[in-house]
Amino acid sequence: MGQTLTEKILDDHLVEGELTPGEEIGIEIDQTLTQDTTGTMVWLQFEALGLEDVQTELAAQYCDHQTYQFDFKNTDDHRFLRSAAGKFGAHFSRPGNGICHNVHKENFAAPGKTLLGSDSHTPTPGGLGQLAIGAGGLDIAVAMGGGPYYVEMPEVVNVRLEGELEGWASAKDVILEMLRRLSVKGGVGKVFEYTGPGVESLTVPERTTITNMGTELGATSSIFPTDEQTKDYLERVGRPEDFEKLEPDADAEYADEITIDLGELEPLIATPSMPDNVVPVREVEGERVEQVMIGSCTNGSYEDILPGAKMLKGREVAKHTEMIVAPASKQSAEILARQGWTAELMAAGVNFSEATCGACIGIGHVPASDSVSLRTFNRNFEGRSGIEDDSVYLCSPEVATAAAIKGEIVDPRDLAEELGDLEPPGIELPESYDGSDADLISPDESIDDELIKGPNIGDVPLKDSLDETVGGETILKMEDNITTDHIIPATADILMYRSNIEKLSEFTLSRIDDTFADRALEADGGVLVAGENYGQGSSREHAALCPMYLGIEAVFAQSFARIHRANLFNFGIVPLTIDEETYAKIEQGDDIVVVDDIGGGVRDGSEEFTCRVNDDWEFTAELHASERERDILAAGGKLSWTKQQATGG
Ligand code: F3S
Repeated sequence: MGQTLTEKILDDHLVEGELTPGEEIGIEIDQTLTQDTTGTMVWLQFEALGLEDVQTELAAQYCDHQTYQFDFKNTDDHRFLRSAAGKFGAHFSRPGNGICHNVHKENFAAPGKTLLGSDSHTPTPGGLGQLAIGAGGLDIAVAMGGGPYYVEMPEVVNVRLEGELEGWASAKDVILEMLRRLSVKGGVGKVFEYTGPGVESLTVPERTTITNMGTELGATSSIFPTDEQTKDYLERVGRPEDFEKLEPDADAEYADEITIDLGELEPLIATPSMPDNVVPVREVEGERVEQVMIGSCTNGSYEDILPGAKMLKGREVAKHTEMIVAPASKQSAEILARQGWTAELMAAGVNFSEATCGACIGIGHVPASDSVSLRTFNRNFEGRSGIEDDSVYLCSPEVATAAAIKGEIVDPRDLAEELGDLEPPGIELPESYDGSDADLISPDESIDDELIKGPNIGDVPLKDSLDETVGGETILKMEDNITTDHIIPATADILMYRSNIEKLSEFTLSRIDDTFADRALEADGGVLVAGENYGQGSSREHAALCPMYLGIEAVFAQSFARIHRANLFNFGIVPLTIDEETYAKIEQGDDIVVVDDIGGGVRDGSEEFTCRVNDDWEFTAELHASERERDILAAGGKLSWTKQQATGG
């Protein structure tokens, strides 16, 4: 039987296990990527593991989430990251140089290689045939030390593209259509492999918009085959030698197949406040818009900004609307500036931000209260923009720009008819991506050989091995689809403590209940209860690390998001699955104790544990874990486990 492209790359990198869906496999990692919010902890963990140098072919450290240097804390973190990259042998991208996925795509992404990144949108370079997976920071630290990455072998789903995009439909509409059909849970345990005759019409930047936002489906990764488009892109970024022809076998078998006719797509939009609330733009036309933003790792590249610039040439942004362009990479910004497009946009009333994640996580450009913001980003979780009652819509650059011109949500087809001289701008790549690389420091160029730790850099907390008993008060009962943004908000005033767990943990779950941290400490630990898809969203391991620091011993949920589930194991918190009936019956404040010897059960491979509530009633919770995950839990987390492995303990 033939292989899918995903299976081929995994096969080439397989060090443990078999490619059977659902089974745990260990794979060799070629490249790693870390960003500043997750990176400080990664390097502290790398140091704590006693490792000398990065062992992967390539490691890159970016500064993109918290680039604004409000006070010494972020600046200290950036300096620490630069020193760690220099000391241990990674590339360092300075703050303002761009978003990790975009800078990585332009400089390092290569077909056929594996990439592990401590950011949930790591799958972005799947658009170039790279198998890229997001993971928790500790997994990255271990991979940088040469250890395999363990993941459940995903099901590979064939997304067959037919036809070609027409008129005002864009790559963003392809992935919004996927979200419309499958929802934010539709990709869990899956890799989406794009095939079919429609693939060849999509440029690499269009493909990476699709693979980037596959994360919103909950997918392990998304990938395209390589072809003339890939070759062309790699030539333009000055790395033709990285091209490799990759495609699935003709008789490859997929777990499922989805067909999308590109020619039938129309402009779509995700309405507040979930990326899968997708409707045709025409359904929400007329809504007054006060802010429009083009940027983020999804649609912030040269090819995403240029369409807006073309549409705005000779026009102006509506008077009650603010339009901001946040380039995803400084290289993109530099090319646009050299070509004169930056001046055109400025003349139309557009403001520019530095190349940063920024507004995507509520850092800067927070919308006005009770107002609509239209963004080309990938997430619109409630409150993520920096204001609780936000109203954020997600759309393509073309739809965003049309709204900026009209001052309200409008399908660009209707605006074009109204204006009479507005044409679909199409996608255009620059002749060459030959921008300055002054902000990208290679290991050879580094001047650092010692770690520089400022006062905001704390220690990595460690947990003891798993107790015989686990349980305690239900400190918080939560609903479905709790995101890592709910658990540890990513706003500037909070994330500046990312390297100081004692301080950061004060903000744990504060968006749901601002007494949570105090109550958890007072109760001397306890448990959490949640509905479906607990921990979706970012890869932020602080969302497990801080609850661990506060003494949370177990999370009872109906289901867990993949990366967060792995992070819970990594920090020694037991992720137990419960059914809907049990979830409904448990109340906040209930005392839940796992009756069975959990330490022993975890080690013995037990899958079911009896739990007692208030000494009154019982339920059964399930532990779905591989042998390795059980060993990690028993050791009190991955750091302790990895150290034990290294010392043979
Ligand atoms: Fe940054 Fe937002 Fe992407 S935080 S990495 S631009 S999802």
